[in-house]
Amino acid sequence: MAGVTTVMLAVLLANTIGAFANDPDMLQDVCVADPTSEDFFFTGISKPSQIANNILGSKVTGANVMDIPGLNTLGVSMARVDFAPYGLNPPHIHPRATEMIYILQGELYVGFITTNNKLVSKIVKAGEVFVFPRGLAHFQKNTSKYPTAVVAAFNSQLPGTQQFAAVLFTSKDPVPKDVLAQAFNIDEHEVEMIRAGLTQ
Ligand code: GLV
Ligand code: MN
Repeated sequence: MAGVTTVMLAVLLANTIGAFANDPDMLQDVCVADPTSEDFFFTGISKPSQIANNILGSKVTGANVMDIPGLNTLGVSMARVDFAPYGLNPPHIHPRATEMIYILQGELYVGFITTNNKLVSKIVKAGEVFVFPRGLAHFQKNTSKYPTAVVAAFNSQLPGTQQFAAVLFTSKDPVPKDVLAQAFNIDEHEVEMIRAGLTQ
């Protein structure tokens, strides 16, 4: 009986550790397709990226395993976000990572919402950092008339991003209008208007 209990406890412990882990730990130094290539180098976030003239006025440039194959199994990645004056990185989540941002220049109003529906927000300035816990909805808004930029660090080689507006209103197979109308307490015509505004 004691043996069974021990086994059950071991299984429980293993599962608990799994639940807290992010990307799996490394099994070897590097795990890339071609170990002789420049799989560990990337210039893609060295300069501000062109911000498309869209309603958001922000541009995220990833530096993750899709761009740097050498990140495979290492459990980290980065991104750079550039903001036009008053630009917004709209509410989104990263299912696989906590995010930490370092403000390169300018000033942002940033925040995340807890699972208790509490907004945790702050105005952050150049040289400061802010943390968005894994899986929680968050956003960043440039509150100034100057361009702003941040560098983001993630504890996943591929954090994944789901932007709420895009996920709900512009998915490839559309979420049925009646579902969205009921969820947001609006009518189906308003759903169409939101969709049109997001896909223009
Ligand atoms: C910022 O929140 C980002 O995900 O790059
Ligand atoms: Mn983010």
